[in-house]
Amino acid sequence: MHDEDEAKSPQERSTAFSRRDFLKISGISAAVPLIGSDLVEAATPEAKPLGPGKVPIELTVNGKKHALSLEPRVILLDALRDNLDITGAKRVCDRGECGACTVLLDNKAVYACSILAIDAVGRQITTVESLMQEGKLHPIQQAFVDHDASQCGFCTPGFVMASKALLDKHPHPSADELRRGLSGNLCRCGTYAGIRQALAQAQKGA
Ligand code: FES
Ligand code: FES
Repeated sequence: MHDEDEAKSPQERSTAFSRRDFLKISGISAAVPLIGSDLVEAATPEAKPLGPGKVPIELTVNGKKHALSLEPRVILLDALRDNLDITGAKRVCDRGECGACTVLLDNKAVYACSILAIDAVGRQITTVESLMQEGKLHPIQQAFVDHDASQCGFCTPGFVMASKALLDKHPHPSADELRRGLSGNLCRCGTYAGIRQALAQAQKGA
């Protein structure tokens, strides 16, 4: 008997249910690779875990479907940039801090560096490339230009997409909504004053 079990009362012993017991009953070994929502499926003997090799997936980016073959470990940012040559979303921190990689997933701003491509299957992925239509900048992009809201420009696509998610949800955001909507994006060049002015212009046209 394990030392930890000896310290328990008989009643506690009869009701105690250890992680090891769970693994024995469910047939899961600690070595089985489980991927996100496949947890329940993987507990059945016939279910096949995905990977580690490439698997076929389909991503819908800016309304267009793309068939890809990717390892399940590939992040959305890499799938966009390296496999689809859609390079508007930038890699800067690569760990969910700066927002340079911001894209929309079902109209919500997300960090593409922090999501597996396979988790974006069946969802609408929108990147900055979709905004310009027939050679005309989107009003948010135009506002960034008009107010000199970028310097090196590396953070700009992420800010533009975060701004789009914000204005789509709150066409006339309060100061608090605006602060929260852009709180996940950083600009090392310090263009925040220009970005605020750009947002003020863009929401007039919203
Ligand atoms: Fe994704 Fe910084 S590169 S949050
Ligand atoms: Fe350079 Fe924002 S414009 S990081």
